Amino acid sequence: MTPTDVIMKKRLGHELTREEIEYFVRGSVNGDFKDYQLSALLMAICIRGMSDRETVDLTMAMAHSGEVLDLGEIDGVKVDKHSTGGVGDTTTLIVAPLVAACGVKVAKMSGRGLGFTGGTLDKLESIPGMRIDLTRDEFISAVQKNGIAVIGQTGQLAPADKTLYALRDVTATVDCLPLICSSILSKKIAAGCDAVVLDVKTGSGAIMPTLEQSIELARTMVRIGSMTGRRFSALVTDMDQPLGMYIGNALEVTEAVKALRGEAEGALLDVSLQLGAQILLSARAAKTKDEALSMLRGKLESGEGLEKLKQMIASQGGDPRIADDLSLLPQAQETIDLTAPSGGYISGMTTSEIGYAALALGAGRSSKEADIDPAVGLVMKKRIGDAVEKGEAWCTLHVNPGSRVEEAKRRLEGALSISKEKPVLRPLVYTTIEADDV
Ligand code: URA
Ligand code: CA
Repeated sequence: MTPTDVIMKKRLGHELTREEIEYFVRGSVNGDFKDYQLSALLMAICIRGMSDRETVDLTMAMAHSGEVLDLGEIDGVKVDKHSTGGVGDTTTLIVAPLVAACGVKVAKMSGRGLGFTGGTLDKLESIPGMRIDLTRDEFISAVQKNGIAVIGQTGQLAPADKTLYALRDVTATVDCLPLICSSILSKKIAAGCDAVVLDVKTGSGAIMPTLEQSIELARTMVRIGSMTGRRFSALVTDMDQPLGMYIGNALEVTEAVKALRGEAEGALLDVSLQLGAQILLSARAAKTKDEALSMLRGKLESGEGLEKLKQMIASQGGDPRIADDLSLLPQAQETIDLTAPSGGYISGMTTSEIGYAALALGAGRSSKEADIDPAVGLVMKKRIGDAVEKGEAWCTLHVNPGSRVEEAKRRLEGALSISKEKPVLRPLVYTTIEADDV
């Protein structure tokens, strides 16, 4: 077998065998496949597609391309959640402590920001002292003791995905169902959880822009995930505007803390509770969605969710006092209000452009090597459907000397639509997909 044989077979539209898929995935790690051969095969997969059997084999080969974590020492069901990426999407920092406060073990591996989307790791690192690089033993003992730990994916986790994702990013092969599915699922499977709830975004800030494609992605991931023998389910949620009102790393930690204190209602909290309910259901910790929601609301109102977040921060070396005094988080030097050019109703926000505006201020990376500034970002004052007057502030920029303010302003101004008519609001959660639905 040579790389060319495998590329030719897929180019002609044939189904690859498990051996051929394992050969290709191994080759992506050990160098037997050159980057140009991997790229050619990725493009052939994009154009010709993959059967479910091929996608399962690809997922498992990628999961086993490096270390597969064994969480067997931790009692009970270990749950994880995964979002396909968004802007102002701080659900993990709200959901994970609430679910852990309900007694379900959260052993979570998170990623960094990708493109214009934020990453939980970058947000956690804005907390002074916080460590996201626990060893395997530290991770397991933190989950045993507190019921919660959120750490970074180590370099050993699904290394084939690192190589393949980097090539996909520069060869127009990202938005391909079997490739997205195997990329996301392989990392979740290697991270060792029993149950995973996927948050598949839809809208102008989502990997799949149309609702139809987002539902198809959710169904595919739940179907393939279930075929690997693990419990997978998915919510399809709105990303046609930023989910939370705060965008940026320390700013998103601020909003999560406010939500856990009961000081921030709205879309971010609503979606967090819906995801949390699905997690409790898949961990069999609740029998109905209503029961799950009332358990979570109880932990919110009692302050146990906030307490769990503080415990998690302290056990990972961070300063838990940030939860009582948000001024201990990094603060930007200057704020600038952006005002509406006309009056009416906010009728649209191009989420990806808002994400790129935050990136221009320094909240994300323009290149792999770039550093992020934890303090900078945006605070949105308006959501779609809100009335706005001419000259009224609709967004506040939090900036530091390194911020590219003019670019951020230009992107934000281009992202906003104002209409005379009040627009029809989209749902926050479109549908829930479980294994028996696919
Ligand atoms: N996120 C991933 O981790 N992989 C993809 O392919 C797309 C989004
Ligand atoms: Ca069902």
